[in-house]
Amino acid sequence: LKKFVVTLVLVGIFGFALLQLVHPSIPEAPARAEIAAPPEIRQILRKDCYSCHSDERRLSWFDQIEPAYWFVRKDVLTAREHLNFSTLGEKPAAAQKGILFEAVTMIQLGAMPLPQFTQLHPDAKVTPEEMATLKAYLAPWSVAPPLAVPGEAERAMPQTAGERTTLTSVADTLNGLKFDPEFENWKLIATTDRGDNSQFRLILGNDIAVKAAREGKIKPWPENARFAKVAWVKERGADGLDYAAKFKQVELMVKGAQEWKSTEGWRWGRWLGLDLKPYGKDKAVVKECTSCHLPLKGDDYVYTQPITAASVEGNEIVNNKAAALPAGLQDNPLDWHPIAVFADPKALTTSVLFANDPAFQASLAQSRTSGAVVSYPTGAKIALITWTQRDDPHWFGARVADSFTSAEFVEAGAGGAAPSYTRFDGPSGKPDPPNGQMQARRDFLLKLRPVALP
Ligand code: HEC
Ligand code: HEC
Repeated sequence: LKKFVVTLVLVGIFGFALLQLVHPSIPEAPARAEIAAPPEIRQILRKDCYSCHSDERRLSWFDQIEPAYWFVRKDVLTAREHLNFSTLGEKPAAAQKGILFEAVTMIQLGAMPLPQFTQLHPDAKVTPEEMATLKAYLAPWSVAPPLAVPGEAERAMPQTAGERTTLTSVADTLNGLKFDPEFENWKLIATTDRGDNSQFRLILGNDIAVKAAREGKIKPWPENARFAKVAWVKERGADGLDYAAKFKQVELMVKGAQEWKSTEGWRWGRWLGLDLKPYGKDKAVVKECTSCHLPLKGDDYVYTQPITAASVEGNEIVNNKAAALPAGLQDNPLDWHPIAVFADPKALTTSVLFANDPAFQASLAQSRTSGAVVSYPTGAKIALITWTQRDDPHWFGARVADSFTSAEFVEAGAGGAAPSYTRFDGPSGKPDPPNGQMQARRDFLLKLRPVALP
């Protein structure tokens, strides 16, 4: 038996030595165009990320031993393909900053550096001080959005009523996802105010997605749940409020757990500008989507925390229960259509204007052609919901709705009567006593311009 063990050990050692011969190289090169960032930022990246995300070779001796080396090599090559700080400097400044925002989010959510890497290289963990340095450098809210140019909103909407039908003839993405012209009729799931790129986003869901969100059945999301994320560039109005101005893009996610397994159970597509041009040069573009959504793997790859009173496994990171509307409002605006969004950067609130069907149809028809103030027909109701904001726990540089503060309703008067105004204040949602401000608020709501839509 002793002899057998000795033989086994010898074979083991021989085999291990043989493995060492299979040592494919990891190419290295001097930095061609390193990311443009202050030295203290580069130092953090160098210490925590360059082992994988640079052309430098920075492996520990124990990374060089087979079979560990093969895994390390695969990680390094994949990591470089996704993000290479040695060449990132070739990209425009805004894109470089964008990557750093993504980086902070990845670190925050524990996705980077790869956890299996920091287990063996604890010194590559990002410390709280390093995180603070990165965040202070990025300072997402330090730059105010540009001032609105009077009349610009109209010019941003060149469409004519006839062009509405073109929503049905939008080109597919390169990986074959069909545009969904229904998206404008979907309901609000959540909204984000982005300081990193000065945009507003409305995240809309089809009936399947809305039902799932309301019931808290979103881990995973059901088959054929669909999201549209619509983005507008922010502008600061003369009243100091930030409005959604120029239309930027719409993105779709369509759930199909088995069918789209290779792209994390979803189909992905992005269409740019009012003419809805499919984004990307080739089919591989979908990798961009999946890699940035990767840290949300535990939430079915979805960043958004739906505004819903439902509890999702008691996990507040998944849903935004705090922002749920109080029961007992005269109508539930979340059953209506969001038609405008703005934020108050001083009070730190987000407000969304909702429209019931007649108001929505009027807003679509009129805002598309003129970009002017909507004249609401009899039966039209609009509601402005205001929430306080909090930092988005999922994305550094974004703010999401926190708690409900007020609901204001305006109903168009029948037969030339003046529109009525009612207000509810949170968190209890009790009706407000009438005050002298009512008429001014009513007119403010009536004059809010609907967002530009393709
Ligand atoms: C052990 C290797 C390793 C280390 C160390 C590492 N990463 Fe990564 N990183 C990867 C791999 C592999 C991927 C690709 C993941 C995927 O999408 O499959 C990746 C992807 C990323 C992405 C997504 C890029 C894209 O395609 O959009 C970002 C951002 C990122 N890493 C940031 C960082 C930051 C910041 C650090 C340091 C704090 C870091 N990584 C450290 C291996 C690493
Ligand atoms: C750099 C990171 C990043 C990339 C790349 C990215 N997303 Fe997202 N995505 C986000 C964030 C963050 C949110 C949360 C909403 C917000 O603030 O924009 C989001 C939300 C969404 C949503 C709403 C549902 C959800 O998951 O919250 C859709 C739909 C979406 N993205 C589609 C896409 C598509 C399609 C692509 C690729 C063309 C893509 N995304 C690429 C970061 C990214």
